[in-house]
Amino acid sequence: MSKANKKKKEKGKRDPRNTLNDFTGAEWIYFLNSIELIEGEPELMTGEQLNDLSKSQWVGQQGPIIDTLFPTSGENSDAHHIRKKHPSPKPPQLMKRLIEFFSKKDGWVLDPFVGVGGTLLACSMANRHGVGVDLSQEYLDLYQKATGHLNLEPQIVYKGNALQLETLLSSKNYLFDLVLTDPPYGNMLSKKRTGEQKKKTGDDSPTPFTNEHHDLGNMPSDQFYKVLKSVIAQSMEFLKVKGYVVVFCKDLQPTAEHPNLIHADVVNTLIQIPNLRFRGYKIWYDKSQKLYPFGYPYAYVSNQLHQFILIFRKEK
Ligand SMILES: C[S@@+](CC[C@H](N)C(=O)[O-])C[C@H]1O[C@@H](n2cnc3c(N)ncnc32)[C@H](O)[C@@H]1O
Repeated sequence: MSKANKKKKEKGKRDPRNTLNDFTGAEWIYFLNSIELIEGEPELMTGEQLNDLSKSQWVGQQGPIIDTLFPTSGENSDAHHIRKKHPSPKPPQLMKRLIEFFSKKDGWVLDPFVGVGGTLLACSMANRHGVGVDLSQEYLDLYQKATGHLNLEPQIVYKGNALQLETLLSSKNYLFDLVLTDPPYGNMLSKKRTGEQKKKTGDDSPTPFTNEHHDLGNMPSDQFYKVLKSVIAQSMEFLKVKGYVVVFCKDLQPTAEHPNLIHADVVNTLIQIPNLRFRGYKIWYDKSQKLYPFGYPYAYVSNQLHQFILIFRKEK
């Protein structure tokens, strides 16, 4: 922990209602962070053929956690002021890091849930070809606006339903090196949370992406998993053998009824696709998010400041 953080953490009063521990409010909040960073990085294998990284760059990519604090304003924010009109834009710099590991220069990348184009902007930054699909013309227009603002070459986009990917892409002869995507997570995520609900539950789920019934964000969870599986299976029709499928995912707060380990449910669903093998995950720790005093001073409620980056490979 940095000196500044340590100082912050030590501040604050103990609450007499807290019967659980001797923490102050500030100490409590810091404990709720789902991630604590351990210094040092493990050394792993060397690479061949997959990407353009040197051995030391390859090793540098193997750490389990990517922690980022990308600016959300100003020149270095990758047009965040345009992209923030979407409920959950991904930082292009983060996507670029993944693209550079899982493909080579001039490679082809598909994102069936493109939003305002975190993946596609990263393709332009990394000299890859990108193809994206989204239900919403509004988000695709914001993506185009962001490319103009950043002076980047626009990639190919289709307005349409990712469930019809086979039809949308059938005449194009695409062969992708990588599918990199960040799907919406069922209608359990699309309920609006008021500030008060959020304070009580720690549930900071986003608002719906669109009002369309094809939107995966508006589907009940059993339908959602079937549809996600179908979209990824269709993406694989256009993916080369040994190409990777990289899927973002966030868990929900556990409830009495369900542990809500969404990442485990997604893995267990997607490994049912023939020839798709789960290869592990990385964790993205987004330090631009705030810590809230959920549950204080009565019970532990995690601040989930991380997302899972689930990594699969098409084996045959
Ligand atoms: C989590 S967001 C992706 C955000 C994106 N990574 C970015 O950087 O902006 C998921 C997107 O999937 C889109 N979507 C939902 N259901 C879809 C469907 N059936 N077909 C295509 N796009 C869909 C939503 O409109 C939303 O923009």
